Amino acid sequence: MNLFRLERVLSNQAIFSGPLKRDEMESGFPSRRLRRLRMSPMLREMICETRLSCSNLIYPLFVCPGNGIRHEVPSMPGIFNLSVDKLVEECREVLDLGIQAVILFGIPEKKDDQASEAWSEDGIVQGALLALKEKLGGQLVLVADTCLCGYMDHGHCGIIDSRGKLENDPTAELLARTAVSQARAGADIIAPSDMMDGRIGIIRRRLDENGLIDIPIMSYAAKFSSAFYGPFREAAQSKPKSGDRRTHQLDPANRREALEEARLDVEEGADILMVKPAMAYLDIIADFRKNFALPIAAYHVSGEYSMIQAAAAKGWIDGESVMMEATLGIRRAGADLILTYFAKDLARRL
Ligand code: PBG
Repeated sequence: MNLFRLERVLSNQAIFSGPLKRDEMESGFPSRRLRRLRMSPMLREMICETRLSCSNLIYPLFVCPGNGIRHEVPSMPGIFNLSVDKLVEECREVLDLGIQAVILFGIPEKKDDQASEAWSEDGIVQGALLALKEKLGGQLVLVADTCLCGYMDHGHCGIIDSRGKLENDPTAELLARTAVSQARAGADIIAPSDMMDGRIGIIRRRLDENGLIDIPIMSYAAKFSSAFYGPFREAAQSKPKSGDRRTHQLDPANRREALEEARLDVEEGADILMVKPAMAYLDIIADFRKNFALPIAAYHVSGEYSMIQAAAAKGWIDGESVMMEATLGIRRAGADLILTYFAKDLARRL
């Protein structure tokens, strides 16, 4: 070790930030001390790499028939089924908290084998959209979840043929019809959550044919067949009567296939790509971020919310801190937008 280097090591003033040499380590004076920048709250704030803001959040809401209804979902404390009048009140509160976007799910009066209330002009979500547009003007971005499962009497995501098979193409056409009626009723963004092949393309085409060229599509591009949706299916009353969704939703084991889904959605005209669920799929979010220039959304789903709430209620974790950390992690992985049942709680903290 020459004199110059010895002096540098002893005075602990690194000139280069290269790797330490063996003799430097042995001298016991690391020149690289990352803790230096963690020593005060101001320094930590200056080097903070990931920030959360209200504009990153989309709050999911469940609208149901009736009047004056505000019914808490048992497995999702703090989340309610709301009739349109109560939904409007809720959205005013959401706006006051600084949240700019909500996504609407409908619980129809009646279900049938054509999902009529999903695409009918006076469907539950269409009614809610009209009311929100009328009462709140353009202040809140209204996202409509476009799927049929909650509207089908059998609870599957599309049209079932005589052999019990989910028919892709007629389902995609019905989804497009649903999307057009939602956009006509006032939806600002269409969010298809079904995972039929080609549905982004057909929805884009039908929107455009109907003059709805400025309505973006937020595709649930990688939606995994997940047990984390359990509480949602209680909230939206959308549990399939039999079987599961594995013929269309992704296998949780598959990472490359998720990229392929996203690539096709981009080709077909998606404007935003979503990954769902979020916490067990952070690698997928990071992959999307790396591979596509489009905005990326992640859905921190019902089961993820309920687990945190349940553990917090038991006093096993600090719910608020875990909420912040989980959301930050999703954002750090690469999500621009986060759909989360915590949106109101987060907004209060931000
Ligand atoms: C389907 C849909 C589901 C969710 C959003 N849209 C459930 C499903 O595929 O069964 C789940 C969201 C959540 O769990 O919070 N319409």
